[in-house]
Amino acid sequence: MMKALVLCGGRGTRLRPLTYTLPKQLIPVANRPIVHYVMDHLAAAGIRDVGVIVAPETREQIENALATNPWGFALTYVLQPQPMGLAHALVVAREFIGSDPFVMYLGDNLLGSGLQPLMDLFSRERADAVVLLKEVSDPRHFGVAVLDGEGRLTRLVEKPADPPSRLALVGVYIFSPAIHKAVQEIEPSWRGELEITDAIQRLLDRGNRVLGERLQTWWLDCGKKDDLLEANRVVLDDWIRRDIRGTVDEESRIVGRVVLEEGTRVERSEIRGPTVIGAGTIVQDAFVGPYTSIGQRCTISHAALEHSVALDGVRVEAVERLEDSVLGRNAVVRRHGGDQRALRLLIGDDAEVLL
Ligand code: TTP
Repeated sequence: MMKALVLCGGRGTRLRPLTYTLPKQLIPVANRPIVHYVMDHLAAAGIRDVGVIVAPETREQIENALATNPWGFALTYVLQPQPMGLAHALVVAREFIGSDPFVMYLGDNLLGSGLQPLMDLFSRERADAVVLLKEVSDPRHFGVAVLDGEGRLTRLVEKPADPPSRLALVGVYIFSPAIHKAVQEIEPSWRGELEITDAIQRLLDRGNRVLGERLQTWWLDCGKKDDLLEANRVVLDDWIRRDIRGTVDEESRIVGRVVLEEGTRVERSEIRGPTVIGAGTIVQDAFVGPYTSIGQRCTISHAALEHSVALDGVRVEAVERLEDSVLGRNAVVRRHGGDQRALRLLIGDDAEVLL
């Protein structure tokens, strides 16, 4: 039986300040934590036994976010004391994985389609590793693969200055137990991490069978703010259906695919889909959407908000127009009375304000 290892450790430095208080894998996309979409794909592929790599700082939050376990998985949490690399995660999860083949899935990656093609390739070809690949316009920030005519991997390079192809490694892999020996044989890279690309290159050097499968749909790696907005846009576009469970007054208009969760109140406002609004949120005298996700217990009043993500407890008041923005939990954006030219800010570490 195939197991899965979902990587929810790491530092998430590129998504600060959000990741000071929320692990990257729990940042919501269309109001669901990213890792829930990962779990959906694993469940759909028939996987039951799931290990989750967690960091000491984020372990509790990740466990809480998965506690209801609607997928019915047997869940095992594996502590990685330091984020020492993707291949290091395999070292700490060695006991959980045992001698089974397994899927390794990065907990901050979103895919437009499921795992079945990759699983089929793995078993049909009796491979030691299969990796999911996607053509990207700028491969310099990714692990990059070179394939021969038969779909076999011939070479792998991590973040190449001069990319040998445009095929980036999507964060989904299937390995046979041969990977463990390869991981033992590699050294930390210049950035001090045990790189999974080095371990796969080791498999290639030893003559093991490594194949690549091109992902036919989209792939989003939610590493940075713009990636997160893009992920939100794509997920809202592809997966949102109209569902109105809140109350809407007569002076408001709800246009297109809009989700209003329980207890939302919309007054004298227009909501344009695709947009989701979380439970208990109040929207008054405002325009919201399209491509906007608002969390629970927020207040949006006398404001226009478009193509943005607001986490739980956000307040936006008397702001003429806010777009392409990500607002962390309980953030307040409010125009004050008095001198309209002066800005008054209380800004957290690593916050960014573009005026
Ligand atoms: P990355 O995005 O490569 O690393 P990171 O989370 O440290 O982020 P940043 O570069 O912004 O600091 O990690 C990819 C995924 O793998 C992510 O879900 C975190 C996880 N991960 C681990 O579980 N253990 C690790 O040692 C590393 C490096 C990442």
